[in-house]
Amino acid sequence: MTDTIQKVAWKSASNIALVKYWGKHSEQIPMNPSISITLENANTQTSIQYNKSNGSDVKVDFLFEGNRKPEFGQKIERFIARIAKDYPLLNEFSYIIESSNSFPHSTGIASSASSMSALAMNLYSILREHGAIASEDLSIASSMSRLGSGSACRSVYPGFAVWGNSEIVDGSHDEYAVEVNEKIHEEFKNTHDSILIVDSAKKSVSSTEGHALMAGHSFRESRIKQSHDNLKVLMQALEGGDWHKFTEIVELEALTLHALMMSSVPSYILLHPNTLKVIELIREFRNATSTAMAFTLDAGPNIHLLYPDYNAGAVKSFINDALIQYCEERKVLHDKAGQGPEKLI
Ligand code: DP6
Repeated sequence: MTDTIQKVAWKSASNIALVKYWGKHSEQIPMNPSISITLENANTQTSIQYNKSNGSDVKVDFLFEGNRKPEFGQKIERFIARIAKDYPLLNEFSYIIESSNSFPHSTGIASSASSMSALAMNLYSILREHGAIASEDLSIASSMSRLGSGSACRSVYPGFAVWGNSEIVDGSHDEYAVEVNEKIHEEFKNTHDSILIVDSAKKSVSSTEGHALMAGHSFRESRIKQSHDNLKVLMQALEGGDWHKFTEIVELEALTLHALMMSSVPSYILLHPNTLKVIELIREFRNATSTAMAFTLDAGPNIHLLYPDYNAGAVKSFINDALIQYCEERKVLHDKAGQGPEKLI
């Protein structure tokens, strides 16, 4: 191995869950299976310059959008050290890592899925280029991403990915996600996601704390069963091109996530009054026009409005006419199902 500086870089996007991952145990093992759509525009670009280090500890110098962030650097050092347990080659380098997001910080969009998957793709590339991973296997990159952030493990694939063991998805696994795009009907192939920024303030509960609340939740067992049932029906809808069934399950999952937070001890309400107003308007418009569209929510107040490509004109007009006034500074981010991570260097 030479002593020269080497460089890799990847771009990876966030994803929006349709059946939600909420609750985990052991080393980032999900309480229940989840499925998501990897997006395109909300992404993180991360580059790593690395060269042979003299010391035995992993050393990281981390810059976010040009500014040195020692606290994150230490977090990443621990993350790399964890992966180095399986791939000791990573202990041999020191790293300069530079990262930036395509979306402004003030949108309340969670960046852990895009940032941790971009980072994991870089480490995966380093291991591939030095022969520590013999052949292409994205489940390894997915598993590495999971250790950084659970939802990130689904972002290493384009389009639709399932994470967590489920009897209805062949090859599904608790340690990594699998892509299920070959099963997806044309109707859903180019699904759009317009993110309505109702409130960009920092969340009052981190997802890590939120997951922990599920451990002793009164509805834990029924939630686990419900997620399996919902994944089954949703997969049928996705295979059959059924927007009606899709909408029923996706909205049920979004509201269940918030109902679980509201009914946990302590309880959290992350919905904003305008979240409810927008949901009401979406349902009214859908009832009146039969436009195929469904909303979902992350662990926050912002609304993701999902719709097929052929409705893009109609839904964007509806957003501009009726919904944008309920968004903070009229902020809406238009995104869609994406191609998965892209190697830049
Ligand atoms: C509500 O992946 O952010 O977005 O594993 O602690 O990093 P950690 O949690 P995270 O949780 C995301 C939860 C969710 C639902 C989902 O993406 O499935």
